[in-house]
Amino acid sequence: SQPMTIDQFPVRKKEGPPLTMVTAYDAPTARLLSRAGIDIALVGDSVGMVVQGLENTLPVTIDEMIYHTRMVRNGLDGPLLVADMPFLSYQISEEEGHRNAGRLIKEAGAQAVKIEGGAEIAGLVRRLGLSMIPVIGHIGMKPMGVHQMGGFRVQGRNAASRRQILNDAEALLEAGVCALLLEAIPASLGEEITRLSPVPTIGIGAGPHTNGQVLVFHDLVGWTPAPLPRFVRGFGKAGSVMEDALSQFRTAVQNRSFPAPEETYGEEQKASPRKTA
Ligand code: KIV
Ligand code: NA
Repeated sequence: SQPMTIDQFPVRKKEGPPLTMVTAYDAPTARLLSRAGIDIALVGDSVGMVVQGLENTLPVTIDEMIYHTRMVRNGLDGPLLVADMPFLSYQISEEEGHRNAGRLIKEAGAQAVKIEGGAEIAGLVRRLGLSMIPVIGHIGMKPMGVHQMGGFRVQGRNAASRRQILNDAEALLEAGVCALLLEAIPASLGEEITRLSPVPTIGIGAGPHTNGQVLVFHDLVGWTPAPLPRFVRGFGKAGSVMEDALSQFRTAVQNRSFPAPEETYGEEQKASPRKTA
């Protein structure tokens, strides 16, 4: 199948099938997404929580995002490559946001950037548009607002919050985003934004009406310890599969059944090369 590009977004919005987006933080995961026919690989700032083991995404730096985006690019074949702009890489000034978005494109190979924010980032979205940098807006629950929210909480549940999110959606659409990511909002609001938006909506905990769905890789393959948010479905048991392999290795080493003769060099065998991307 042909590689995913942003110019296919309008068609997918109109005719489907719904877009699939999954996070990736390294080359082997990028290879899995590519082989599975996922549309979009997202190098999320969730790397801070999922991979670095942090409590929230705030400490993640632009240099870390560049490092992970490069690794994903090296394993990716087909999916569109989108990178998150991390906390404080764009909030201080539009100039800094412009420079940092440019780094994700120019140094790391991202094809679009995703930015948390509504009306307050409309100026930056416009400015990036002038540099031909596509932007996905991220509204609803914005994980960078964890301290202001007092935790990760569903947004848009009262009239004022709903109005605010709709205003943000309209401001971003006006500024020219190529897609809207909707996180942790009631399904009825996900439906309303999807109806008013000419570009695809991609939801995570935003109900079944959006034009696509996104999940964190480790959550969807079953590699995240419980408890998981309501919107996660574990489609696999990767965690227990890997744990089982590790226990088998431990047992085989301890009972000296590993390595066997066929896993051992004599005088003749050459080292076999390791496969790369
Ligand atoms: O960082 C991330 O993984 C995200 C998705 C959860 C949408 O922004
Ligand atoms: Na993110």
